[in-house]
Amino acid sequence: MSENPTTPEAHARPAGARETDDRAAGTARTAGSASGAPRSASGSGAGVAARRTEPMFPDGTGPAADPAGSHHERRIRSFQPRRSRVSPGQADALRRLWSTWGRDIDGLSRIDLDALFGGLPVVLEIGFGMGEATAQMAAADPDTGILACDVHTPGQGNLLALAERNDLSNIRVANGDAIILLREMLAPASLAGLRVYFPDPWPKKRHHKRRLIQPEFISLVTTRLAPGALVHCATDWEPYAEQMLEVLSAEPTLENLYPSYAPRPDFRPLTKFEGQGLDKGHVVHDLLFRRRAL
Ligand SMILES: C[S@@+](CC[C@H](N)C(=O)[O-])C[C@H]1O[C@@H](n2cnc3c(N)ncnc32)[C@H](O)[C@@H]1O
Repeated sequence: MSENPTTPEAHARPAGARETDDRAAGTARTAGSASGAPRSASGSGAGVAARRTEPMFPDGTGPAADPAGSHHERRIRSFQPRRSRVSPGQADALRRLWSTWGRDIDGLSRIDLDALFGGLPVVLEIGFGMGEATAQMAAADPDTGILACDVHTPGQGNLLALAERNDLSNIRVANGDAIILLREMLAPASLAGLRVYFPDPWPKKRHHKRRLIQPEFISLVTTRLAPGALVHCATDWEPYAEQMLEVLSAEPTLENLYPSYAPRPDFRPLTKFEGQGLDKGHVVHDLLFRRRAL
């Protein structure tokens, strides 16, 4: 069987997946206990076990640690559960704002984008990180809704706090795997665009299968794009840029707006990962493709 991450087979829950799921959930819970959730006073094994079972956000007050549950879990992931801590400010934003502006990617129901964004055209941003660039783009273009998707809990809290502070009503935050979101929860031709800025480059050859931009992923994406929708990718990792160019150019329902890479568009702010890449002397490539009307 192919290890293609977008095939139904790849999403079926394999034997042994529990270990990975528990690790992911445990990561969030550990972060949660560091962010103000009650802690056991004991440093003993029993105390650690108790901490592991504490939910970070009880009673549906924040993003779920494992929103898609068992049957939608992907075997090959394009992300790694990260152990960074949720700050008190981020946790506060998540507790207060998640039920209004957040959405768990549980893979169980369709999202009505018109209802969620009051009829605005909606672009999906996959992997917003800490969300600074997302907030800037939302502020610069209030007539476009941004469905911002990531698994990174501190970033989700940070983006909600930024949205609140800057009075941005055109951002919603989706928690979980973007592939499940696209496949199970978004209607065909419902998106006005896709943004993927500085996705994890997975530089080791044995990890290349984890890269997000692959033929099957892009063909899934194009089913969710309205005719004329823009696909905008950027990376500072040269071999990944080449892969993006090859994959996007080979997709028959997309057309490149430029002969090769695109000039950096004014509307894309500097992102955190881009800054880190530039500090290392990396060259940044943007790619801009349009969904054809077929
Ligand atoms: C390298 S960071 C880039 C963050 C940000 N765009 C920037 O440029 O600073 C990539 C982000 O993509 C997220 N990510 C990777 N695969 C994802 C997926 N399948 N669904 C949702 N988020 C994903 C990771 O959690 C991470 O936050």
